[in-house]
Amino acid sequence: MKTLVLCNQKGGVGKSAVATLLAHHLAQRGQRVLAIDLDHQGNFSKPLRLSGRVTPAAFAADVLLTGSAPALPAQPFVLVPGDRALLALERQPALHTPFARHFRSFLAVVDGEFDVCLVDTNPNPDIRVIAALASADFALSPMQLNQEAMDGVSGLLNHERVGLRKIKAVLNPKLALIGLLPTMVEPTPFQKANFVQVVQQYHSLLIRVGDGPGAFASIPRRSCIAEAQAEGAVLWEMKKTAARDAWREIEPSLRRIADIVGAPAQTTVTPEPSHAPAA
Ligand SMILES: Nc1ncnc2c1ncn2[C@@H]1O[C@H](COP(=O)(O)OP(=O)(O)O)[C@@H](O)[C@H]1O
Ligand SMILES: [Mg+2]
Repeated sequence: MKTLVLCNQKGGVGKSAVATLLAHHLAQRGQRVLAIDLDHQGNFSKPLRLSGRVTPAAFAADVLLTGSAPALPAQPFVLVPGDRALLALERQPALHTPFARHFRSFLAVVDGEFDVCLVDTNPNPDIRVIAALASADFALSPMQLNQEAMDGVSGLLNHERVGLRKIKAVLNPKLALIGLLPTMVEPTPFQKANFVQVVQQYHSLLIRVGDGPGAFASIPRRSCIAEAQAEGAVLWEMKKTAARDAWREIEPSLRRIADIVGAPAQTTVTPEPSHAPAA
């Protein structure tokens, strides 16, 4: 089993939407998928539940950190949902090390039962994010193409507690950053200019989907993606032409990410200092 954590210290950038699309995509490819929602807001849990495709565990994701998680349903697509109990974890600093250890042990126990584990996270840089990244094989960072988000890339890599370089150096040497995934991309002159800037500054952190100069993974802003999230629909099965068009646009990006998660870690870009953008 390979574990992929979706993370970004900003909320509302499309983490949960990408996690949901990826979960359905991997399941459709025949992968056994374990979906873990570490965000108490449950924006990964809700659409998966509503889709009727997952078997929810009888417990919420906080138990994976506090230890003693009961066995998961023996099904190929399982959800461990988020709930408000997750909020209590950060307030128990004396237990943070055991929390991270329990999460890692849990992943080891279910290793043979799933092919991919997707972990959606909350934006606050707390023990949930640390525990997830400390055990993961891969990290993926959805981001919006606005100035604030671009300024935040350095924090994503270097944040004192949850920076990907920090986690890799101190807690989890195997962690590989699949890359930055621009989301909610709009064809405005402003966003186009920002995209050029991201490519210039962080091209080694973007995810290649082809050989062309602009061939990087990204997710456009499409109302049908928000609708799919709200209704629990599977984007490519929605009746609207707009939904199928949107799926055609994003499929190469999701396929690339799904290929990486199923492939050896050395095929990915790792957050080494040699890739460092000027902080
Ligand atoms: N590509 C997209 N196009 C349009 N709306 C989107 C897209 N991605 C996410 N959304 C919507 O934007 C809001 C925030 O997205 P969400 O995935 O919950 O962000 P995060 O998990 O980073 O907080 C949600 O209402 C979601 O449905
Ligand atoms: Mg979210």
